Amino acid sequence: MDVLLGAQWGDEGKGKVVDVIAPDYDVIARFQGGPNAGHTLIFEGTKHVLHTIPSGVFREGTVNLVGNGVVVDPVIFLREVRSLEAAGVNIRAALLLSRRAHLILPTHRALDAASEAEKGKQRIGSTLKGIGPTYMDKTGRNGMRLSDLFQPDFAERYASLVRKHERLLSQFGHEGSVKETEAEWLDAIEQLRSFSTVDCEHYLDAALRSGKRVLAEGAQGTLLDIDFGTYPYVTSSSTISAGACTGLGVAPNRIGTITGIFKAYCTRVGSGPFPTELNDAVGERMRTAGHEFGSTTGRPRRCGWLDLPALRFAVMVNGISELAMMKADVLCGFDTVRICTHYKVNGQLTDRMPYDVTNGIEPVYEDMRGWDAASVAQGVPSELETYISRIEEAVGVPITLVSLGPDRKETIHRKAERVA
Ligand code: GDP
Ligand code: IMO
Ligand code: MG
Repeated sequence: MDVLLGAQWGDEGKGKVVDVIAPDYDVIARFQGGPNAGHTLIFEGTKHVLHTIPSGVFREGTVNLVGNGVVVDPVIFLREVRSLEAAGVNIRAALLLSRRAHLILPTHRALDAASEAEKGKQRIGSTLKGIGPTYMDKTGRNGMRLSDLFQPDFAERYASLVRKHERLLSQFGHEGSVKETEAEWLDAIEQLRSFSTVDCEHYLDAALRSGKRVLAEGAQGTLLDIDFGTYPYVTSSSTISAGACTGLGVAPNRIGTITGIFKAYCTRVGSGPFPTELNDAVGERMRTAGHEFGSTTGRPRRCGWLDLPALRFAVMVNGISELAMMKADVLCGFDTVRICTHYKVNGQLTDRMPYDVTNGIEPVYEDMRGWDAASVAQGVPSELETYISRIEEAVGVPITLVSLGPDRKETIHRKAERVA
């Protein structure tokens, strides 16, 4: 099983790359996250944004599996199914859901909002999809799983969990009711029962034994990981390669290639530290050129230069063996492109990402020559080649794919050369 994941703060372009390489695989499996994700695919002039459903869904013959590590909001899931059906995808034939995946309840969403409101200025900037409270119920051993839909005591268990959530909501001083959203949710639950469910771990074991090729698709990114991200400004799941094992029930010794997706610069949406952030005209130019607005929430994304200590950290904790560099076209026309090679922390120079990336970190930059739009239209210009080689040398991993536009076709595959 190969793994593809985000090497920065999410929105690196994972959806695009999964769609491009999906024909090489029999199964594409999402291993964590939920509708906080927004994976964009563009081909034949149409844009599709996926939240829960894996990004192999437009490739005929590919099985798309929602793994046990994913949290599913039945309402958002059904909306996604309908829009895929409207686009002519025979989604029911192509989709499997793990029975162990946890359900997002309307009260989880309300709890997410209440918790964020209480945090005030310290808020995480969550997508308000109920992700944190759902994973809290999972690890707190109170959660509801997809398999519970088929149990006779489903209604009682649901009512009991809602009562618990209502007590918590009243402690938060939350006003209002979830009754409206509840009706839509209960209706969606009825429909969810008709989708194919599997024991994901057994399904993938059999698939791998019979020689099928499986790609695990990550959501969010390494720096949003619950353990290794910029805690507490993170999401609530394991976004790193180890999360592919627990989120799908596949053993570590079955993992092959691990591809890290990164942008030629950095973005972050929501709160939290971001050492190379640019709060100036340069950052604004990146946001405009890169259309850096969230695929799920529409919020403007914070932008900054590429951060090599952070990328090296992602290579280390994930065991990334190949990198895909996205959106180099966005930097077209900059005379100089900067790259953060080190941090200065308390006056000390370091190339390691510390556990606490406070605002006291000062990035140290190297300047490189930029590239122009005309030469990018012909392929990879020499200045961009130099930029790529500098990154490969700094992180010790080859960049095997370069993306120069959002469309499926705007992709250049490069030979996997060994990097010393
Ligand atoms: P994901 O969450 O990692 O799948 O990434 P998102 O879809 O949230 O954000 C990536 C955005 O960049 C989407 O709008 C893509 O259409 C777009 N995109 C992907 N690759 C490229 C690229 O190489 N160049 C440009 N200009 N846009 C890209
Ligand atoms: P994809 O898969 C970018 C961010 C939120 C917030 C933090 C916690 O499209 O790359 P959550 O709702 O998970 O509790 O929010 O994580 N976040 C993302 N940022 N891309 C994503 O997904 C994200 N999913 C969550 O903005 O800062
Ligand atoms: Mg996204």
